[in-house]
Amino acid sequence: MKYTSSGHSHGQQITIILEGIPSNLLIDIEDINEALRKRQLGYGRGNRMKIEKDKIEIVSGVLFGKTTGAPLAIVVKNKDYDNHKNYMAPFSYDDSNYQKIQVPRPGHADLVGAIKYNHDDMRLVFERASARETVSRVVVGAISKQILYQLGITAASFVREIGNVSIEDERDMDFFEKSDVMMPSKRATQEAIALIDEAKSRKDTLGGICQVEVYDVPCGIGSYVSHETKLDAKIAAALLSIQSCKGVEFGDGFSLSHHFGSEVHDEIIYEDGFKRKSNHYGGFEGGMTNGMPIVVKAVFKPIPTLMQPLSSVHIKTKEKALSHIERSDVCILPSASIIAMYTVIYEITNAIIKQFTSDTIHQLIEAFQSYRTYVKRF
Ligand SMILES: Cc1cc2nc3c(=O)[nH]c(=O)nc-3n(C[C@H](O)[C@H](O)[C@H](O)COP(=O)(O)O)c2cc1C
Repeated sequence: MKYTSSGHSHGQQITIILEGIPSNLLIDIEDINEALRKRQLGYGRGNRMKIEKDKIEIVSGVLFGKTTGAPLAIVVKNKDYDNHKNYMAPFSYDDSNYQKIQVPRPGHADLVGAIKYNHDDMRLVFERASARETVSRVVVGAISKQILYQLGITAASFVREIGNVSIEDERDMDFFEKSDVMMPSKRATQEAIALIDEAKSRKDTLGGICQVEVYDVPCGIGSYVSHETKLDAKIAAALLSIQSCKGVEFGDGFSLSHHFGSEVHDEIIYEDGFKRKSNHYGGFEGGMTNGMPIVVKAVFKPIPTLMQPLSSVHIKTKEKALSHIERSDVCILPSASIIAMYTVIYEITNAIIKQFTSDTIHQLIEAFQSYRTYVKRF
């Protein structure tokens, strides 16, 4: 599979072309819209989320509710466009009252993007650098999820940390559904909300860590044979490409360095197939899934736009100035955990589709089930 997207943060729409989806897959539009709704949730997100109610429109590649095997063209309209169309319409714009944005925000793509593409207005950078683009990741991930569902693979994600508030080892999945910050801990949720309120009143922002888990992936997806086929590396790269993601770890990740090898290698047992006694490596060995749940964490930095701006420099006058202020989020971890989950789902689906016969969804299901049986009997 491959996809490409186009669209600006305050432009008319996000457009996605997705290739390589097997034919005859029944598409559940409401499920994709629900994924987009979840992307917009979370305590700490800005007012924009009240304006946007994202809805997907598939304009081709699906007939009679099923994929044809051809590329899908997908559109998600930006409701906020109406408030910005004076200057966001590509040709019929009116810039008489428009003010160029010329003081870059530290931490955003503003300055480097302006230098690289030779713009004297940073809007031409951040309209694309912005995380509105992640709509496309959620859409292709939500379509991929419908494929994985047919293969018996499921996924979940939650927020582990916001600022210095951590869920520690708590996993209260009943409470999780009620948590406004998508943390499976009542205590951590309350503390995180208080911290977000504090950050907001200090005109500051917060980062954090989310965790994605994928269940029932058989061993052997991905491959050790070349740098390009290692699935853990592809997942890591895809996660790192999400705006403001600064690090990824599988399983026990960075803390593995504190242990002797004998404490962390996942010992092998045979119980109706090969299994492991533990999952310190988060489900990967040699760039391949090893049959244990995939467990991957991603850290997101505090977002760059501060209501109390940091010092910067005007790109034309070269004088010291306070950085640009845009309407902005305070903490995006709940959204990030949804975006990260769909990003991981897409990468796993892509690896499966490459590895098995997949012109039609039924061929894929058959090939995949027969591989599961082979693995079990090995
Ligand atoms: C869901 C989501 C929402 C975001 N919202 C904002 C925002 O409102 N304001 C902001 O300055 N940055 C926001 N960011 C982060 C910036 O898009 C990101 O920091 C910027 O594009 C620079 O990329 P980098 O941080 O990966 O280097 C958001 C990121 C995500 C994942």
